[in-house]
Amino acid sequence: MTQPKVLIETLHGRKTDRTPIWLMRQAGRYLPEYRALRQKAKNFLDFCYTPELATEATLQPIRRYDLDAAILFSDILVVPHGLGQKVWFEEGVGPLLEPIAGTDELKRFETGRMVEALAPVYETLRRLKTELPADRALIGFAGAPWTLASYMIEGGSSRDFAKAKLWAYGRPESFQKLTDLLVDAVATHLEAQVAAGAEALQIFDSWAGALDTAGMRRWSLVPIQAIVTRLKRTVPNVPVIVFPRGVATGYRDFAEAGIGDAISLDQHVDPSWARDAVQSKRVVQGNLDPRWLVVGGDGMRQAIHRILDALGQGPLVFNLGHGCVPETPPEHVAELIETVRSYKSMGR
Ligand code: CP3
Repeated sequence: MTQPKVLIETLHGRKTDRTPIWLMRQAGRYLPEYRALRQKAKNFLDFCYTPELATEATLQPIRRYDLDAAILFSDILVVPHGLGQKVWFEEGVGPLLEPIAGTDELKRFETGRMVEALAPVYETLRRLKTELPADRALIGFAGAPWTLASYMIEGGSSRDFAKAKLWAYGRPESFQKLTDLLVDAVATHLEAQVAAGAEALQIFDSWAGALDTAGMRRWSLVPIQAIVTRLKRTVPNVPVIVFPRGVATGYRDFAEAGIGDAISLDQHVDPSWARDAVQSKRVVQGNLDPRWLVVGGDGMRQAIHRILDALGQGPLVFNLGHGCVPETPPEHVAELIETVRSYKSMGR
């Protein structure tokens, strides 16, 4: 029998004696041991595809901190890469892709090929399963169709999503084909992660907030709903966290549509609004501004308490509103965890 894990119990909506905590991008450049390990791979994708290195990167924050979960060290862009698109990471620039302009290019993309190409990612999860302490949960993840499509069309990061929105708004039937392909690829990738040992899943729609409200429903909410519906059939016991970043009041739409077990809030959402609009229907995750983690001290503690005062009665998974930034002093992460852990004992 495996022992119950606080994160998993909370995601299932069951009462626990404390608030679980993990951080998006808890592995990464703010850790000196990550920067040292990163030197061993010739590029970032190679790093993600070397199980020995990816396992170690996943475990680094777990060795340092009392976190409730480890998140697989990988990237959302392994999905387009595995499907057959050219993807590379340029030092100091970020991700670059050979952009697609229409549905013709989709013919060479294949989900079966992706699963083969991503074998090292699944091997990393199998290794983690044996190496992770028994009381920590293992989280797998993927990007949502809209966010993946935006990188695939823009050829990298974008400020205005001009090409992706021109396609989605201007040629919706054609954009639907790309979305359908990505719904299948993402669901398949997540199912394979569960088969390899992932105990919870997170779907990152990092750029959902770039769409207008109708676009958000059609290209963020509906495809994520399709993925979650499939996962509830194929891997029914695995809780799913959805993160439609930047959708403002759209978070209520996700909660009302009952999508996923938990909804991850970005830092722009007022926690007291979220208590009624989101937490009344779903487990919530979030939502400390990652910049507080750079500042630390009393300011950070007050910001943490504002979240816990509003949402701390649960169900809540404490997290950031977005990922840890490279400027984060590692000791502030310990302070954050300590502040969350000691909150209850202060009699609040
Ligand atoms: O610790 C964890 O959270 C797990 C690992 C993880 C990474 N990327 C590692 C990474 C996860 C969950 C991601 C998700 C991811 N990747 C998202 C969704 C979350 C978000 O941030 O909105 C997105 C949009 C990407 C795409 C991506 N990967 C970008 C835009 C960049 C460049 C920006 C940057 O921070 O460098 C990456 C690179 C990346 N992914 C790094 C890490 C640790 C840094 C690369 C390096 O070490 O050289």
